[in-house]
Amino acid sequence: MHFSSLSLSLTALAIVSPCIAHPQPVLRQDDSQTRADTIKSAFSHAWDGYLQYAFPHDELHPVSNGYGDSRNGWGASAVDALSTAVIMRNATIVNKILDHVATIDYSKTDSTVSLFETTIRYLGGMLSGYDLLKGPASDLVSDSSKVDVLLTQSKNLGDVLKFAFNTPSGVPYNNLNITSGGNDGATTNGLAVTGTLALEWTRLSDLTGDPTYGDLSQKAESYLLNPQPKSAEPFPGLVGSNINIATGQFADAQVSWNGGDDSYYEYLIKMYVYDPKRFGLYKDRWVAAAQSTMQHLASHPSSRPDLTFLASYNNGTYDLSSQHLTCFDGGSFLLGGTVLNRTDFINFGLALVNGCHDTYNSTLTGIGPETFSWDTSSIPASQQTLYEQAGFYITSGAYILRPEVIESFYYAWRVTGDETYREWIWSAFSAINDYCRTGSGFAGLTDVNAANGGGRYDNQESFLFAEVMKYSYLAFSEEAEWQVQTGGGNKFVLNTEAHPVRVST
Ligand SMILES: *[C@@H]1O[C@H](CO)[C@@H](O)[C@H](O)[C@H]1NC(C)=O
Ligand SMILES: *[C@@H]1O[C@H](CO)[C@@H](O)[C@H](O)[C@H]1NC(C)=O
Ligand SMILES: *[C@@H]1O[C@H](CO)[C@@H](O)[C@H](O)[C@H]1NC(C)=O
Ligand SMILES: *[C@@H]1O[C@H](CO)[C@@H](O)[C@H](O)[C@H]1NC(C)=O
Ligand SMILES: *[C@@H]1O[C@H](CO)[C@@H](O)[C@H](O)[C@H]1NC(C)=O
Repeated sequence: MHFSSLSLSLTALAIVSPCIAHPQPVLRQDDSQTRADTIKSAFSHAWDGYLQYAFPHDELHPVSNGYGDSRNGWGASAVDALSTAVIMRNATIVNKILDHVATIDYSKTDSTVSLFETTIRYLGGMLSGYDLLKGPASDLVSDSSKVDVLLTQSKNLGDVLKFAFNTPSGVPYNNLNITSGGNDGATTNGLAVTGTLALEWTRLSDLTGDPTYGDLSQKAESYLLNPQPKSAEPFPGLVGSNINIATGQFADAQVSWNGGDDSYYEYLIKMYVYDPKRFGLYKDRWVAAAQSTMQHLASHPSSRPDLTFLASYNNGTYDLSSQHLTCFDGGSFLLGGTVLNRTDFINFGLALVNGCHDTYNSTLTGIGPETFSWDTSSIPASQQTLYEQAGFYITSGAYILRPEVIESFYYAWRVTGDETYREWIWSAFSAINDYCRTGSGFAGLTDVNAANGGGRYDNQESFLFAEVMKYSYLAFSEEAEWQVQTGGGNKFVLNTEAHPVRVST
């Protein structure tokens, strides 16, 4: 999950009938192969453009053919693309990225380092590449010392970043100056940025044999698992949004699954998948949060009571709005439901997936908006018809190549085997391929509910490679150890950037 502050207003109107899922006939194997090949070609298109115009910078500007360094200039798109290139079995790209990783100096940057973003993209990308190339994809790279560099560099990066946890409580600063060993002077840290470190940092410890990294992340997490004061947990398992760095106490009791909070909940169940022996408490907290979410946050638009979205809650007041980012929620319920054998969680996950599909299926592009609402007190006149038909109206119509909806479709496909969900992935991928593709890569849209997607954002986030391409490809590619499995059979767990990490053995 990722943060972004897009504030765009939108007035376009969609008149598309809401659609309900019908069972699909099973896709023929060669059709599945054709789709997988199309997704691979799209990945190559983006890679080739990045290589030509932006490498070794962080990301391509896909309209102007320029580049940006929004992630400290260490080649974020290359590192984020690694695990997808491995899964697509493209040895040329994999070798190019390994050669690049060996050259990165993680101790040097001109800009502020985000502990969270650096962890999920760079650390997660390198550790996943290591796990895949030492494991089920070991035939892809003949020189194993090139693979060893991934772990050496992961340790180097962990050593650069670990001072972030050097606070009175052990709750880290997120925004770091790695040159001075300083920070931005924040007094609180966010729930997601604090609670989305344990998988990568624990994996780093388990692979290096040095417990320091895992211990630091788990100490920070301990304040989230046992929230104080008690008022910061208004419903069992659902906690506030900001934590005091000096004391580890929560600073508020605002509850949501939206950006800023999201991947805290995601990692509770993923840590259990990673190692059920060590992370049973994390699972208990996820179960509590999931049950409270079904009971207190599930919300049904008045115009479409058949749809389920998640509201947020603060001190007795519900906010009836949600985000593209929040749409990882269906996948989280599906993963927890299958791992814990809980039909109620699976069914609720499918209801959330259906709601997020509605946000895609109801726009003129077939892509869902950045933010939307079903609060009837402030429906813009121009969107009354959209609200009546689709059960939501758009509060920001941007699409910046986010993966969460396709991600949850992927979990729905893996957990149920129902072809409907693969068709939804194919529709979403096809819409992105149609509307976002430029001469050198993929650009965001300013308005998913304008006939042509509105304008284009001149930016291609690295998560296009890591997430959108990977989840789409996985749905149409072969059975493999890195695929999400039903029941307790997972050999890998995908971090929040979709990097598969081998589960603890
Ligand atoms: C690997 O990627 C390169 C660069 O995008 C592409 O030209 C090539 O066809 C791909 N190879 C395979 C085997 O897919
Ligand atoms: C980090 O600290 C160094 C040394 O104090 C300073 O020169 C530099 O401008 C700071 N970097 C950022 C991004 O603030
Ligand atoms: C919660 O709401 C009540 C009244 O609605 C108010 O008195 C109280 O101060 C609020 N608490 C917080 C922490 O905002
Ligand atoms: C899952 O739960 C159902 C009943 O709730 C039970 O019949 C079934 O055996 C369980 N499966 C596993 C694998 O535990
Ligand atoms: C909505 O879904 C239906 C059925 O799955 C499909 O035929 C239609 O093309 C979709 N519309 C959009 C805009 O994606």
